[in-house]
Amino acid sequence: MLVLSTGCPSPRSGPSGQFPDHLLVFYSGDTLGELFPCGCRIPMGGLSRRGGVISQDSPYPMMVLDTGSFARGNMGYDRFTAGWLIKAYREIGYTAVNLGVQETIQPVSQIREWDDLSGGILISANLIDENGLPVTRTHLIRDLGGIRIGITGVTATGYERAASSEAPELLVPIEPLQEVMNIFEEEDVDFAVLLADVSGEELQAIVQQVEGFRLIIHGEGFNVRSGVVDLDNGGRLVRIGDQGKYLGRLRLDFMEDGTITGEEVENITLDSTVPTLASITQILTDFKIELRQRREEFLTDPPNPFQRSQSAMLVDVLSGYTGHSFCTGCHVGYNLGDYYRVHQNAWAMLGESDKTNPECLECHTTGYGVPTGMNDPYRDTHLRGVTCEACHGPAAEHVRTMTAEQEGLDQSEMLPLNDQTGIPFTMEVPEQTCLRCHTEEWSPDFDYDTWIERVRHVGMNRPGSFTPDEAEEAEE
Ligand code: HEC
Ligand code: HEC
Ligand code: HEC
Ligand code: HEC
Repeated sequence: MLVLSTGCPSPRSGPSGQFPDHLLVFYSGDTLGELFPCGCRIPMGGLSRRGGVISQDSPYPMMVLDTGSFARGNMGYDRFTAGWLIKAYREIGYTAVNLGVQETIQPVSQIREWDDLSGGILISANLIDENGLPVTRTHLIRDLGGIRIGITGVTATGYERAASSEAPELLVPIEPLQEVMNIFEEEDVDFAVLLADVSGEELQAIVQQVEGFRLIIHGEGFNVRSGVVDLDNGGRLVRIGDQGKYLGRLRLDFMEDGTITGEEVENITLDSTVPTLASITQILTDFKIELRQRREEFLTDPPNPFQRSQSAMLVDVLSGYTGHSFCTGCHVGYNLGDYYRVHQNAWAMLGESDKTNPECLECHTTGYGVPTGMNDPYRDTHLRGVTCEACHGPAAEHVRTMTAEQEGLDQSEMLPLNDQTGIPFTMEVPEQTCLRCHTEEWSPDFDYDTWIERVRHVGMNRPGSFTPDEAEEAEE
């Protein structure tokens, strides 16, 4: 039979406590590695805002909980990001963090590394290692507001997962939860909390078969239902998720004997009106500095993290070449006109062996041999072919300046520029630039005065000169 660890057994300090009038619970879940506000039309979320709300003075005893799925995936970049997220959680002062579905695909050793980083607040009742031992603590017991609070968590067993080879094994939650409940009883826990990153059906089975949870926080993925559900035992259930765009806040009102008499619940929208926490902003800056240093390592991760649609707050990580996906968001006329079509085959036209031949890459890719340019055709896929920056030069500074202007970001808070290409970004594209590739040998018929007319796109794709709709029409 499985033996569950009991965490740090703390000696009971007195008779079962008298409940406080109120208890405040902040809760998050399904963050999926989102450290910054989303790259949405209205940027929401981000750990700095989360920390800002939680750190405001609370008149009530308070705990901070997370239902799990804090990691996005199990590639190097995802794990790197999750590590920084855990650092931020520790700084914010999380009480306990459940291991969710996205953590079940990670190697056990990785989860334990995060647990150390978290200060030992990761919990899971139903993840075990190859020896049958819990991957982390199964539960935590905390004295708060004069009572003993027991917190445990489980993750779903019903999903198909592309897990790492050393990923943990999953137990059906019922039995492990019953065992944790027994421990809670032995330890005189007054109030049992369950963090559940499970499906609705699985949660129902748990509620029916395991008695005693007075507060259940359900991690819900994308469509989070707000509000509170009354449980048959007088407890409460709330839900949270959606990549950290919201932060749950629940105030429970008690009678002395622990009966819940009421509550106030809100999923706080983390938009620009909420305060930020400086210590978390600093952690995120350190994250960006390391991300920039380790850029090449992460470029191999599909999808290339630098090409994912991501928060505007990450543009300052870029330096030198960015790839054309960063241009098209603003320059909506991207696909319009001959200027693009004449160069669109520059990569595809190369035979397989030529795609790694430096002699060919020089003219058939962007920024060949330059720092942040094309240096490995199977890694730097965003720079294959003759793209915008082949003619205009590395555009990272332009992208960050324009993004900052558009999003109202404070440029003094951004990382210093770090362009080591030595090549200017320009609007003017002189004949010299064409001749680097259109040599006598490769392009004997090249004639600047006539050929330039086939690539010139003045007035075509200035931001604002096309709406996306018009661009689509014009393309047809
Ligand atoms: C956040 C929006 C944004 C992004 C992203 C962006 N641009 Fe621009 N770009 C603009 C705006 C706005 C202007 C017009 C600036 C002006 O008129 O001063 C502009 C102007 C330009 C110009 C003309 C420069 C000049 O001196 O007037 C070039 C060339 C250009 N962009 C290329 C690019 C390339 C290449 C990329 C991708 C690597 C890119 N842009 C990404 C917003 C953007
Ligand atoms: C100095 C720059 C340069 C280098 C080096 C270069 N190319 Fe090109 N290549 C071009 C240009 C420019 C064109 C378009 C020529 C034109 O249409 O006038 C072109 C066209 C082509 C074409 C289509 C036209 C044709 O000639 O068949 C192929 C195929 C091609 N290159 C393959 C290669 C391969 C393979 C290598 C490496 C052995 C290579 N290129 C190296 C610049 C270069
Ligand atoms: C980084 C190298 C590079 C630069 C810089 C470059 N070209 Fe090209 N160009 C190519 C390659 C490679 C091709 C062949 C690609 C294809 O056919 O899709 C090509 C094809 C063309 C073609 C089509 C030729 C045909 O036979 O139809 C035109 C026109 C052209 N380039 C004009 C220009 C002009 C004008 C400039 C400067 C403003 C320029 N190119 C800059 C590499 C370059
Ligand atoms: C083959 C070279 C070449 C490529 C590739 C290229 N451009 Fe240009 N671009 C030019 C030239 C040439 C001009 C006109 C410069 C001039 O007239 O002085 C220009 C001008 C511009 C301007 C200014 C337009 C205006 O109305 O003032 C913008 C913006 C621009 N390019 C964006 C882009 C973007 C975005 C891409 C990629 C999708 C791109 N360019 C790809 C050569 C190129």
